[in-house]
Amino acid sequence: MLQPYNRTFPRAYNRFWSAFANEHAPRIAEFYERTATGQADRTVLDLCCGTGQLAAHFLRRGYRVVGIDLSEAMLEIARENCAPYLATGQVRFIQADASNFAVDHTFGLVVSTYDALNHLPSFEALGSCFGAVSRALAPGGWFIFDLNTRSGLRRWNNIRVIEMDDMVVIDRGIYDGQSDRAYTFMTGFLRTADGLYERFEQFAYNTVFDLAKIKTALIDAGLHVTHFARGQDLNTPVDDPEREERIFILSSKAGTSAQD
Ligand SMILES: C[S@@+](CC[C@H](N)C(=O)[O-])C[C@H]1O[C@@H](n2cnc3c(N)ncnc32)[C@H](O)[C@@H]1O
Repeated sequence: MLQPYNRTFPRAYNRFWSAFANEHAPRIAEFYERTATGQADRTVLDLCCGTGQLAAHFLRRGYRVVGIDLSEAMLEIARENCAPYLATGQVRFIQADASNFAVDHTFGLVVSTYDALNHLPSFEALGSCFGAVSRALAPGGWFIFDLNTRSGLRRWNNIRVIEMDDMVVIDRGIYDGQSDRAYTFMTGFLRTADGLYERFEQFAYNTVFDLAKIKTALIDAGLHVTHFARGQDLNTPVDDPEREERIFILSSKAGTSAQD
């Protein structure tokens, strides 16, 4: 969960944290397009879509896209980033909670990137999200998302100073390595067009999810967990996902795409 975003943090996110979506969108698309459903159904639901970089990649590939995010400030930038596709109706952005949403048609692919689902407050919320995802998926559809693992969140227990071209961020992370919540407090300064710096503060937490329980919750939601994988190689199963700092989870819904 996040403190509501002010105007500055989403602009900083758009400029400096979009690399993850840009790097992983082509890998996810290539994985999906090799599946039977992916060859027939070019629709994607981008859950916790942030500023819309992943959505933009799928739009350029010709997909119809719906993006969902809780933050209206993030969605505002997503709409700017995808403006030509909004005008043609190829994309829609909807403000909703990932743990409690409903959509008016089904999708071949539901995706959620950059540990967005670690922002859900509890395992119950995550289970409710999986139920909504399952209902949103077409038969044979795929659900692909990544999470920070407990091992990965241990890195948060630190103070980092991040200096980039037009931004400085002081990130104070707190995690005891055992409990189910890791915290980050960011103070940042973003250079504006007039050369002055705007200050932002952002607090967020990540809930730590037990990956074995995730597998069970996905199955309970009606999904088949194919494997856990590293983002660099979505095809190769990882045997001990809890040892990874970040893990992708690939699951699918039974059935055959109606468009096959
Ligand atoms: C780390 S960003 C990831 C954004 C994007 N998926 C990406 O790859 O860059 C997390 C996003 O999750 C959104 N978010 C957090 N909690 C949410 C919730 N309960 N429902 C929907 N979106 C949520 C935030 O507003 C933010 O845009």
